[in-house]
Amino acid sequence: MQKKYSNKRIKFSSCILGCGSYLPKKIVTNNDLSKKIDTSDEWIKTRTGIKQRYIASKNQLNSDLGFQAARKAIKNSKIKISDIDLIIVATSTPDHTFPSTATKIQAKLGLKKGFAFDVQAACSGFIYAISIADNYISNKQAKNVLVIGSEIFSRILDWNDRSTCVLFGDGAGAIVLSDNKKKNSGIISTELYSDGRFYDLLYVNGGVSSNQKSGHVKMKGKEVFRHAVEKLSNCIELSLKKNNLVKDQIDWIIPHQANKRIMDMTANKLGIPREKILITIDRYANTSSASIPLTLDYALSKKIIKRGQIVVLEAIGGGLTWGCSILKY
Ligand code: UT7
Repeated sequence: MQKKYSNKRIKFSSCILGCGSYLPKKIVTNNDLSKKIDTSDEWIKTRTGIKQRYIASKNQLNSDLGFQAARKAIKNSKIKISDIDLIIVATSTPDHTFPSTATKIQAKLGLKKGFAFDVQAACSGFIYAISIADNYISNKQAKNVLVIGSEIFSRILDWNDRSTCVLFGDGAGAIVLSDNKKKNSGIISTELYSDGRFYDLLYVNGGVSSNQKSGHVKMKGKEVFRHAVEKLSNCIELSLKKNNLVKDQIDWIIPHQANKRIMDMTANKLGIPREKILITIDRYANTSSASIPLTLDYALSKKIIKRGQIVVLEAIGGGLTWGCSILKY
């Protein structure tokens, strides 16, 4: 029998002060897509759970989406912009090859201090970024970290490839992670994994050192699906065990929103009721590293997640990379 998690034994190094998100104005429905390519609302809904997605306008950059989400996260955190001392942006669709989108957002916020960088771990990027932020805070190298997941996947999709273009959308979400000890809440644990042997299962066929193009998303969907269910359920099981937690103590799971069937099957494998899985894929589609903070912000704004509850964040993406984070909100 596993020991029950006790509040007293946990030393939280970082807690979530606030969250924010941004979605572009334009909505593209499955029916809109079915007028341009050989697909149907029925196929997309049944195979993925997606009904629509948001698409950025031509003049919007990744940093514009990230900046809007960041502003809201800072406002909801009730701190000043100048309190931020580190910005981490998880993204696979940056404004430029370099400098980082994080430095662009730093400038847009008018921040003249601290430091900023991007993290590239495909759809697992937000989990990687949380882990890095938590470590900087626990090592006392930062106090208030703005962690952003921001993506414009519409720019790297082949809009004639029905097997990928129906799956993704654009958007951004952000949180402020802080060393604020008064909250008695925060990140309990984050586990990260990768296995480069599966590089070719999900990748973009362009890059600076390969062909100097930005390229398009290529995916062996069925194989990624199989890895997703197995790796995510194992990862959560191990993390619970490591932290002396039992499944019943989980109040909510926020999975990376890649496919509703993956989320349901992972929950089934773990023996966790589907009602505890927070889902936004129907409206937002797969927004890669933005999908977790977008869903978190939705759940917080609707007061679905309450202070003191245990939340598991989990994601898998190109690399393959995967991981999960357990937190007390
Ligand atoms: O975010 C990072 C992680 N990503 C993921 O976790 C995604 C994992 N994979 C998946 O979610 C699923 O594999 C997909 C949603 C991508 C595909 O679903 P599937 O059930 O694995 O379908 P499939 O690729 O095996 O395709 C089944 C059929 C094929 O036709 P045939 O060969 O059986 O005649 C496809 O050509 O569905 C066809 N198809 C489509 N039909 C209508 C593929 N895409 C479409 C489409 N509309 N958009």
